[in-house]
Amino acid sequence: MSSSVTPALVRIAPPLLAAAIALTTMPARADTAAAPPPATRPAAFTQCLACHTIETGRNGFGPSLAGVAGRKAASVPGYAYSDALKKSGLTWDAATLDRWLTSPQKLVPGTRMPFMGIADAARRQEVVTYLLTLE
Ligand code: HEC
Repeated sequence: MSSSVTPALVRIAPPLLAAAIALTTMPARADTAAAPPPATRPAAFTQCLACHTIETGRNGFGPSLAGVAGRKAASVPGYAYSDALKKSGLTWDAATLDRWLTSPQKLVPGTRMPFMGIADAARRQEVVTYLLTLE
């Protein structure tokens, strides 16, 4: 009785299965091909990308922020820093980055980073946390 139904299902099932797999895998592939995980990048970081990249060795108007955590200030090779930042003696960690992003000009008078700072402590903290993850 069911022997006439089964072959029909067997014929239909593989294309359906293939279509289902294509539907579930295609968007996933498109996601990984796009920019780094947007979920971990806070909205407030978008403004930094106007001047900075997060790729090693690629400086923009500002130095690359790749691996900034634990790095001495003004130490990216080939980037022309201000004397003020070179002489700051700072090392970038959660505390110094928080002070820097509160007001670059206050922490390092004479810096060339033309940025007023992020006044909102929570949004600033999000950016600092994100910076600490950049390799
Ligand atoms: C309008 C351009 C501009 C924007 C916007 C900007 N920066 Fe900068 N940034 C610079 C410049 C230029 C320097 C180098 C300053 C110097 O030499 O005194 C710098 C330096 C830095 C440094 C020190 C890097 C090092 O190698 O010592 C950090 C950290 C930094 N910026 C983080 C940020 C973050 C985070 C944001 C966003 C919240 C941001 N910047 C927004 C231009 C910018």
